[in-house]
Amino acid sequence: MKNEQPATFSVTDAPAWLRDAVFYEIYPQTFYDTNGDGIGDFAGITEKLPYIRSLGCNALWINPCFDSPFKDAGYDVRDYKRVAPRYGTNEDLYHLFEEAHRQGIRVILDLVPGHTSEEHPWFLKSGEETPNEYSGRYIWSDDWIKGIPGAPYIGGERPRNGTYMLNFFKCQPALNYGWLHPTEPWQCATDSPEALATREAMKDVMRFWLDRGADGFRVDMAGSLVKGDDDQKSGTCAIWRDIRTMLDREYPEAALVAEWSWPEQAIVSGGFHADFYLDHWDNGYHTLLRDGENSFFRRDGRGDIHRFLKDYLPRYATSRDHGYIAMITCNHDTPRVCPDLTPEEAKLAYAFLLTLPGVPFIYYGDEIGMRYQAGMPTKEGGYTRTGTRTPMQWAAGKNLGFSGADASLLYLPVDASPDAPTVAAQEGDPASLLETVRALVRFRHEHKDLAADTDFEAFEIPGEPHALVYRRGGLYLCVNPSGKAVPLPEAIAKKLSGRQCLFALGANRAGDASDILPPESFAIYGA
Ligand code: NOJ
Ligand code: CA
Repeated sequence: MKNEQPATFSVTDAPAWLRDAVFYEIYPQTFYDTNGDGIGDFAGITEKLPYIRSLGCNALWINPCFDSPFKDAGYDVRDYKRVAPRYGTNEDLYHLFEEAHRQGIRVILDLVPGHTSEEHPWFLKSGEETPNEYSGRYIWSDDWIKGIPGAPYIGGERPRNGTYMLNFFKCQPALNYGWLHPTEPWQCATDSPEALATREAMKDVMRFWLDRGADGFRVDMAGSLVKGDDDQKSGTCAIWRDIRTMLDREYPEAALVAEWSWPEQAIVSGGFHADFYLDHWDNGYHTLLRDGENSFFRRDGRGDIHRFLKDYLPRYATSRDHGYIAMITCNHDTPRVCPDLTPEEAKLAYAFLLTLPGVPFIYYGDEIGMRYQAGMPTKEGGYTRTGTRTPMQWAAGKNLGFSGADASLLYLPVDASPDAPTVAAQEGDPASLLETVRALVRFRHEHKDLAADTDFEAFEIPGEPHALVYRRGGLYLCVNPSGKAVPLPEAIAKKLSGRQCLFALGANRAGDASDILPPESFAIYGA
């Protein structure tokens, strides 16, 4: 059972395809419905692969699409090896893998290792009175009246004489990967047979999908495995290094992306190839796009790039030799950036996100500026997240092209505003957000200097926090989201002088670099 594990992994050992990967995240419920039942399906994703490819995206992440009671939109898995019938069959998903690969697109699935649905057969067995193979698969106290200190738990639901620990919602009992320092007889160590069995079961799930064509996993709540006082995550990271070691041996092309947002733990200690930079209150990412009038990308705002850099640079410095930070336009848990940002502001924001090191993820519909739908009734445990999960807006007309179903049958209503952005309305218009995203992604693919692992250096402009000059390899990039021109100090202007503009947005024009950054502009300069 023991594996030799390196203490850390090198970025050079990550799958090579990640260097040039641009991901597209799909919430399968609302991407494209092909059979008129009001909910998206695998056939819909397969049909839209050419569109995804047309964006320049060469990888996909699909949110959980497995059998589930959907109390948390599928993050409550009832069967890890069977897809939810509402999306199609396992064969439909295998076909999607094949078609995607034929079109140059990798597909990663969502792995939910920390918990299952309360309806998972493992959990039902685990809750039986008579001890059995699954008794130790979840975390149970040893008396129906005894709780689990410091953690949410439930009693009174199952025949077993104990209470069980939750990992998130009430419907999501925590799987047992052990306790770092067990203090009670009912707490297992991380190398106990019970904890190891859980770990092996999760490897088995991973092998199942990798053998059938998946290209890796986005890992839900990756930091949540080991219980007890695993605050530094040494126990949880050791498990991920073990899993990474298995992947390196058996599936060296498979990508492992953490939902953790702590690269020092996820990437350096845990061996993940990439870790999302999530929207957490007041972190660097938040200050770029999601801090109201203080967002860096708000034209009239009071943005300050230093707030981003002071959080981002240490994360980047500690993790760059080991893996990638994944920048996101948004995800299914986060309010969309529009309408808080205008489409013009979003162009500059995306230009920045798509030219940073690491692996970028575009959330479906962000490329056309789909707007967060405030105040929607909650759907499948979405609560305020529901407004970010509405149907993709393909074209004017019935259900904005998402589905042929009666509007009352839709998983969620489409954006009802008369000026709701659509793919069809923007396609072919070079001034649109959609075509801007396409041009940016194309430029990224065409320039190795923008690859995930090419170095990054920031040049803050003294006294002007609302603009930035930065370097990727041999390219110099300038972004000024503010409504005013920003003169560059000589030391920075000198770096740009004589360079050719290779790409520009806003008031920048092709030609030599000047020592003033025009308002609301972005430009990339070459040699
Ligand atoms: C994070 C997922 O992104 C979120 O949607 C889900 O509700 C929780 N983890 C629980 O699995
Ligand atoms: Ca359907």
